[in-house]
Amino acid sequence: MFKDKHILLGVTGGIAAYKAVELLRLLKKAGANVNVIVTKSALKFVGKTTFEVLSENPVLSDLYFDTQSLVKHIDLATWADAAVIAPATANTIAKLAHGIADDALSTTLLAVTAPVMICPSMNTDMYQNIRVQRNLDILETDGWHIIDPDSGVLACKAVGAGRLPDPWFILDRLEAILTRKDLKGKKILVSAGPTVEPIDPVRFVSNHSSGKMGYAIARAAEKRGGTVTLVSGPVNLDAPVGIERIDVETCEQMASQMLSNLDQADIIIKVAAVADYKPIDPKTSKIKKKDNNNKDLCISMTENPDILKLIGEKKTKDQFVVGFAAETDDLEKNALLKIKKKNLDMIAANLVGSSDSGFKADTNKVKLFFRDGSLFDIPLMEKEKVANILIDQVIKKMG
Ligand code: PMT
Repeated sequence: MFKDKHILLGVTGGIAAYKAVELLRLLKKAGANVNVIVTKSALKFVGKTTFEVLSENPVLSDLYFDTQSLVKHIDLATWADAAVIAPATANTIAKLAHGIADDALSTTLLAVTAPVMICPSMNTDMYQNIRVQRNLDILETDGWHIIDPDSGVLACKAVGAGRLPDPWFILDRLEAILTRKDLKGKKILVSAGPTVEPIDPVRFVSNHSSGKMGYAIARAAEKRGGTVTLVSGPVNLDAPVGIERIDVETCEQMASQMLSNLDQADIIIKVAAVADYKPIDPKTSKIKKKDNNNKDLCISMTENPDILKLIGEKKTKDQFVVGFAAETDDLEKNALLKIKKKNLDMIAANLVGSSDSGFKADTNKVKLFFRDGSLFDIPLMEKEKVANILIDQVIKKMG
């Protein structure tokens, strides 16, 4: 997303200015071209050289002394694909809200027509001050993006809202702003992770799903403007930003949540690795090891509901249903059988069993089979990219 994108990073004078250095590093790592503009007070916290070395560009701090060009502020404003002010002080927010242009940053920002993201960071009482809130409202009403500060212990020892969010979070939100909103107005229901079927209070039947593939799809859909509900089995991943996550454990719980959210959904993507069978009679107390000669323990299992099949039966002509198929062999044959049996529009067939695709890996390779018999091959790549290509194909097929 950031490859060759032109990002203007504005840094103002707050203790969180050190986090702007990390944000700059992440932007550069993601492939962005970054120009930094600092206010005079920002330079009291972080030296200009740091930003210059990391951005590989001259840093603008004074319109009259810093630059060869007489219209550097206009050059930078027209160059930018997006601008992010992190941290943004109450003073800069006030100036931007009222069109005051009295330094390099505020003057440049007046000429920026690209999307602008403001990340306020200050003492809680200052942040909650009615004037600061009014100024933020003005900027938001004008179409700029405001990122709420985190809460916690602040540099001034006060506890409350005012901390600059982590740089990765700011990067994630900036990516969302820059992403084409081709899912705007669409509701997407995604399931991810494993289900966990109890044997007794300490043991369970499950599988190796980490949730990475399903979460990548949910995140990509949100960035593309979709309203996403994610029904998730137990995983070690943070709840994605801007998404409603519903936590479940068993197949029964996942079925109930998927079905109760089904009617509102336009696109349903069922990535979860659901246990096909569950113990018939889960015990309420721990099964004890028996001290006799019989070394075997038999646990009787019964079939779980097939959630995707139920969805396929209920789906309306306007809904688009995508299944995943984790196969160790006969990938194509099994995928095509499932597309028919479960009445799907598309199935992503996943050859599992290797370390670089399928369960747990950060990368994946899948073959997309469609109802009309067509096929689209996604070679090995990061799950984030697989997610976006899969969504491209869904949008294309939905017309
Ligand atoms: O989570 P990761 O570590 O990133 O791994 C990703 C993945 C390998 C789990 C994912 O890419 C994948 O292949 N998911 C589908 C796993 C699976 O359960 O496949 P299946 O062939 O058993 O099921 C086919 C489809 O029916 C799936 O969409 C599944 O969600 C659904 N199903 C299966 C059984 C059941 N009782 N109810 C269901 O809805």
